[in-house]
Amino acid sequence: MQALNTTVKIAVIGAGAMGSGIAQVAAQAGHCVYLQDQQAGAAEKGKASIAKILQKRVSNGKMQQADLDTLLGRIQPVDSLEELADAGLVIEAIIENLGIKRQLFASLEALCNDDVILATNTSSISVTSLGAELKRPERLLGMHFFNPAPLMALVEVVLGLATDKKLAEVVHATAAAWGKKPVFATSTPGFIVNRVARPFYAESLRLMQEQVADPATLDALLREAGSFRMGPFELMDLIGHDVNYAVTESVFSAYYGDFRFQPSLIQKALVEAGRLGRKTGQGFYSYTDGTERTSPATEAKQSTTKQPVIIEGELGAARGLIERFQQAGLTVIQRMGGGVIRYGEATLALTDGRMAGERAVADDLQELVIFDLAEDYQQATRLAIAAAEQTSATAIKDATALLQQAGLAVSLLNDSPGLVVMRTLAMLANEAADAVLQGVASAADVDLAMCAGVNYPQGPLGWADSLGQGVIWQVLTNLQASYGEDRYRPSLLLRRNSFTGQFFIA
Ligand code: NAI
Repeated sequence: MQALNTTVKIAVIGAGAMGSGIAQVAAQAGHCVYLQDQQAGAAEKGKASIAKILQKRVSNGKMQQADLDTLLGRIQPVDSLEELADAGLVIEAIIENLGIKRQLFASLEALCNDDVILATNTSSISVTSLGAELKRPERLLGMHFFNPAPLMALVEVVLGLATDKKLAEVVHATAAAWGKKPVFATSTPGFIVNRVARPFYAESLRLMQEQVADPATLDALLREAGSFRMGPFELMDLIGHDVNYAVTESVFSAYYGDFRFQPSLIQKALVEAGRLGRKTGQGFYSYTDGTERTSPATEAKQSTTKQPVIIEGELGAARGLIERFQQAGLTVIQRMGGGVIRYGEATLALTDGRMAGERAVADDLQELVIFDLAEDYQQATRLAIAAAEQTSATAIKDATALLQQAGLAVSLLNDSPGLVVMRTLAMLANEAADAVLQGVASAADVDLAMCAGVNYPQGPLGWADSLGQGVIWQVLTNLQASYGEDRYRPSLLLRRNSFTGQFFIA
């Protein structure tokens, strides 16, 4: 499908953080852009903020002054809606309120040409509901940019019940022509990103609540073993707990209280206390001058013992560790077995979603220490371990010494199911799988959305594929058995794929 020609005029309504960014993107792509805001002077202010940001690029030699002048010449602040009547695509980025947005679209429908495309940048309002009172609801869709719009590549092209699919394809092609990475999503609560990302926060909040580890340790593990750019606590502090908690609450209630999306009392308490994160100087961390960041819990250095490492059977997703042991100069002996590592007194096993204490008894494994998933065992700088109650201090020391010799910082956690990275990935992939099962988006689009919208190191479904058939399903099944909660029920699609050998991403 063809993108809109650059001769088509774009109108952006609402010149706040998002509207200004979207106007910049459209103007950069060569369109003339009307920028309108109900507040007097706001559209001019929006244009001035674009000029200020881009002027820095000129100063750094990354942009020519003449190009900036051309770009700014394309942005025309207007006072009234009547002035943008000849626009071919109108994107609204006004206040997040169903009634006010509906009113705006009704006015636009009356003013603009019949072939206008109406788009909403809403994060949480149903596109279907926004179109319900329009004469031509098929011409309305979601064009959901991420903040800051000029920098974030993702655009969710959201189809309401009545949206014309051909129109959505035009908008998809247009977003691509604007240098974005567009994906299709049906209008369901949270669309793709705001739904699939919920467990990234929720599981760490729960681990903290259950005293498995503190925020600094969980953040460090998700960064250093999970390869996420930021840990969940520092990210929530950056987003603001009021905003992040409100999104979780809205998704939770929109899905009729599905416990997968249950908000956290810990985060609620922060909101109640006014500890909203960076913007108030205090969230999970303190941002007042001179306050030192808490360090992640890290085991003290053990003396190196240079004993042979015995690999029994296949390590599956953790096979990357073997090379790391070899690179550290350790002697590695491989023999038949059930997929465990023996070192000194310790038996180490990758988490399968059971607690170490339970697994030690069920599988008759003495001196068991379980370890976490790393996104890339070659690159990881830290790994979580947990031991069974019955595991000796010597075995824990041996397991720690082995991983330290391979260059990993070790965080010893209280015994809990699925540790941190594996548990987080399992729940992200679970939500992603359900989004695919329910036809919200394709597997490829879900993965693209999570990488382009929130910078995940890999899409959760491709990542789940790479661990091997059925691994995530097994972890979730064990998590569900551990908690006895519906929250951890595995998606039917994960179950089906684990039996049929299908991968999400071909
Ligand atoms: P903002 O508060 O920075 O800007 C909103 C602007 O809209 C204000 O300048 C306001 O004067 C104007 N406005 C309000 N009602 C209006 C009306 N009836 N007609 C014309 N102008 C009107 O808000 P922000 O953050 O830019 O959000 C705008 C929309 O984008 C919301 O729907 C929000 O959910 C969505 N969004 C926000 C993201 C974010 O991270 N801030 C990310 C993605 C979507």
